[in-house]
Amino acid sequence: MLVTTAVLALAMGALAIPHQQPFDPDLANATPAYIQETDGVDRYDGHEVWRINWSNLSVTSRTALHSVLESAGDIWKATPDVIDVHLPPRVAAFLPSLVPKDAQATKIVPDLQALVNLSLAHPIPGLAGAYAPRSPLTNPPTDLPDGGWNVSTLGTVFHDAFQPLSAMDRFLDTLVKAFPGTLRTFEIGQSAEGRPLRAYTAHRADGKEDAPEVVIISGQHAREWVGPASAIYFLHALLVNLNDDPHGTAAKVLREFTVTVVPTLNPDGIVYSREHSRMWRKNRQDVGGLMCKGESRFTPSGLVCSESYSGQRPFEAPETTAMANYIVNGTADAPRKRMPRAFIDLHSYGQLFMFPYSFSCNVFPPDAENLMEAGIGVAKAIRMIGGPGYQTGQACQSTLRFAGDAADYTYAVGQVRWSYSAELRDTGTYGFMLPPFLIRPTGIDVVAGLSALALFIYNTEIEP
Ligand SMILES: *[C@@H]1O[C@H](CO)[C@@H](O)[C@H](O)[C@H]1NC(C)=O
Ligand SMILES: *[C@@H]1O[C@H](CO)[C@@H](O)[C@H](O)[C@H]1NC(C)=O
Ligand SMILES: *[C@@H]1O[C@H](CO)[C@@H](O)[C@H](O)[C@H]1NC(C)=O
Ligand SMILES: *[C@@H]1O[C@H](CO)[C@@H](O)[C@H](O)[C@H]1NC(C)=O
Ligand SMILES: *[C@@H]1O[C@H](CO)[C@@H](O)[C@H](O)[C@H]1NC(C)=O
Ligand SMILES: [Zn+2]
Repeated sequence: MLVTTAVLALAMGALAIPHQQPFDPDLANATPAYIQETDGVDRYDGHEVWRINWSNLSVTSRTALHSVLESAGDIWKATPDVIDVHLPPRVAAFLPSLVPKDAQATKIVPDLQALVNLSLAHPIPGLAGAYAPRSPLTNPPTDLPDGGWNVSTLGTVFHDAFQPLSAMDRFLDTLVKAFPGTLRTFEIGQSAEGRPLRAYTAHRADGKEDAPEVVIISGQHAREWVGPASAIYFLHALLVNLNDDPHGTAAKVLREFTVTVVPTLNPDGIVYSREHSRMWRKNRQDVGGLMCKGESRFTPSGLVCSESYSGQRPFEAPETTAMANYIVNGTADAPRKRMPRAFIDLHSYGQLFMFPYSFSCNVFPPDAENLMEAGIGVAKAIRMIGGPGYQTGQACQSTLRFAGDAADYTYAVGQVRWSYSAELRDTGTYGFMLPPFLIRPTGIDVVAGLSALALFIYNTEIEP
């Protein structure tokens, strides 16, 4: 293997770790925050998101612009073609002066708060199709008289809204009870704030013994709400479809594979993004940073704690450590005998399904051709069910992630042959603030895509 473990350990460290910048005393004093807070909840009134097409710039100019934007705002996405950046009003006003003349800047979100409100919308019980502008934080409407969800149908109102962590946990507990023998849950570790890191494993009681494992993770980046929502939809759909059609695709997937989903790998961040700061991305670990625990703020000098910081040391975050340990070692109760066969890391946004490596294009995976072919199959399966276009390719070509990602790690260190990193919907209209009516469609993309991937692996490696 060309890639050293140290480099990839660094890559895995890129998941979600707070930044500790050199402390600048001038920033601590006399800097009015650009984000207005109401009751401890960040507001983004008048914040804008801009897309800059920088395809004509040299790599050097791109790197320079990237670092300017990173300190002036909050980078949402960067590809070789475009960079999307969220800017507070005062910075947005002088954006045009920051953009080189060979690049083109377009405003794609004029008022971020409007989208934040939309992503929190909740259906009004009894009024089909009507949405209340904001949801209750802790007590979302349910469809059973005892305050639970009807998990025997994918039509349950659970999937009508982005749910708080507590509701996701309760829904998943209900699933475990409703599908005994098929679904079980266990913990792979604890978050920095002591929340359990929960995993859910589905496999038919009458399925193949020692079936190869497919691991799906999501929720590392707190603001990417559609990740956990569609990971849960995927798990729910497998179980419901298995019940409804004993000869269908889900039944086959759960006979031939063990499917493990870790839907909320960064529970602390997920709670924080819901309750305090919608744009929160990282975990909530305090690494002794003076300003970064809940205090990531735009200041006249820029964002004090960069949201894309990739960590100072590998495996700093307990969430990352726990995930890596599960991939390599399994659990204390069930030490790993065989590496997982596939690993898929669900993020948003961009509609991409990417294979390693992301940290560099100079290292090509030996079985890139197979990874590409399977990726094309995933995109095609999503199109076949009426979904949108997803692009597939090597991650380094579709995103600019300087430090690498979890799929790099599972591929090289974990020897997980089918390792992918996905960016779910959309392509930038709503970005991280997908409205709730797009949860099911995105979940359906994931069901179609990952089922196709499992069948591809089955057909090429298991029963060729
Ligand atoms: C960016 O600009 C290039 C060159 O003008 C063009 O080919 C490309 O389609 C643009 N990309 C986007 C996402 O608009
Ligand atoms: C890139 O350069 C080409 C050729 O000069 C030009 O037509 C195009 O508009 C440029 N694209 C952007 C995004 O500036
Ligand atoms: C968003 O919701 C808040 C609280 O309900 C409200 O005060 C604000 O006006 C809304 N903003 C927009 C742009 O809809
Ligand atoms: C749950 O949903 C199923 C399928 O739509 C329905 O048949 C059943 O009556 C529902 N259960 C309850 C308790 O509402
Ligand atoms: C796997 O377990 C060994 C022995 O306990 C430990 O040293 C190693 O760090 C673990 N690997 C990971 C990736 O956590
Ligand atoms: Zn992400």
